[in-house]
Amino acid sequence: MQLPPFKLERYFAKYEFNTEYLLCSSDCEAMSIADLLAVEAGATEQFQQVWLGYTESQGGPSLRKEICNLYETIQPEDVLVHTGAGEAIYLFMFAAFQAGDHVIVHSPGYQSLAEVARGAGCDVSPWQAREENNWALDLNELPRLVRTNTKAIIINTPHNPTGYLMSPADYAAVHNFAQENNLLLFSDEVYRESEYDPATRLPAACDLGDYAVSLGVTSKTYGLAGLRIGWVATKNQKIYDRMASLKDYTTICNSAPSEYLAEVAMRNRQKLVKRNLGIIKHNLTIIDEFFSRHANLFSWVRPRAGSMAFPHYLGGDIESFCDKAVREVGVLLLPGSVYDDTENHFRLGLGRKNLPQAVERLEEYLSRWPVA
Ligand SMILES: Cc1ncc(COP(=O)(O)O)c(C=O)c1O
Repeated sequence: MQLPPFKLERYFAKYEFNTEYLLCSSDCEAMSIADLLAVEAGATEQFQQVWLGYTESQGGPSLRKEICNLYETIQPEDVLVHTGAGEAIYLFMFAAFQAGDHVIVHSPGYQSLAEVARGAGCDVSPWQAREENNWALDLNELPRLVRTNTKAIIINTPHNPTGYLMSPADYAAVHNFAQENNLLLFSDEVYRESEYDPATRLPAACDLGDYAVSLGVTSKTYGLAGLRIGWVATKNQKIYDRMASLKDYTTICNSAPSEYLAEVAMRNRQKLVKRNLGIIKHNLTIIDEFFSRHANLFSWVRPRAGSMAFPHYLGGDIESFCDKAVREVGVLLLPGSVYDDTENHFRLGLGRKNLPQAVERLEEYLSRWPVA
């Protein structure tokens, strides 16, 4: 199996740990172990007692029980914990597909959602989100995309990189389509619970039937990427068992300290969400003002959820714009080309506390940039 470079991760590998301002991160502001343990009485003491042996391969029972609180109908035995969402995506694709299968994948998107399927031998049809539709997926396109060998639809809402949140009607239609056509629905929900209006939150896919698999992680909405704890939740026993069996060849089980910390995080997730949405909403006011000051240079679809947006740069080539921003003022933006976007979009991160300072730097850069 051949996997091409993961463009976004290679771009980050070059800059993430040597650039002052990361203005394109997808995760929310992280915190220290001490700060996380402080959210729950007694957790600091209990953390000292965490046993450093192998853990249960499917994830500790108490962690899986906490994860179930995200869902309506899911039981601990329906949850399989992984090392990040990345491992779960990888194992799902190899558990679910065979060479010659066909899958329909939300595009643009997080590269592994399409690439690992391709690596598993699938033909991949992008289901293209378009800016002129506010980054919505067009439901009318699904019947045209489906083939006799189609095995799954892969969606991501709230969406990386656009911040698009599917409407309840469209979401129901995707589910109906998957069921009617006997397809699996892999629903990447790693930004769930970061909707700016909680009333717009969609039901988790795994609660709607055993054709669906929901993907979650502590990294994004909860701001704890360093834990490397992700999971799938599904009532599809066949997929669950195959993924569990493949996991024996990757990580076997998860890190014991991380499992305990993830359990504390999930038990107290409302506090983490409140903090992180507070940061995002404050940052959005700054970005709103920034874009209204520079309406000649940028247009954007304001996100409805999550820690990202995918604005359009109107001043020319986005790659050289981003390249100069990082070299001249130490502000990292992510050119849309890492998502194979050819229309000069870039990813903007909204979840970091130092966004106001990063935007000041960007202003300084724009004052020097020869704009149209
Ligand atoms: C949509 C989506 N899915 C999955 C992942 C992987 O999450 P993690 O890096 O925590 O494994 C990411 C990370 O950026 C993502 O944006």
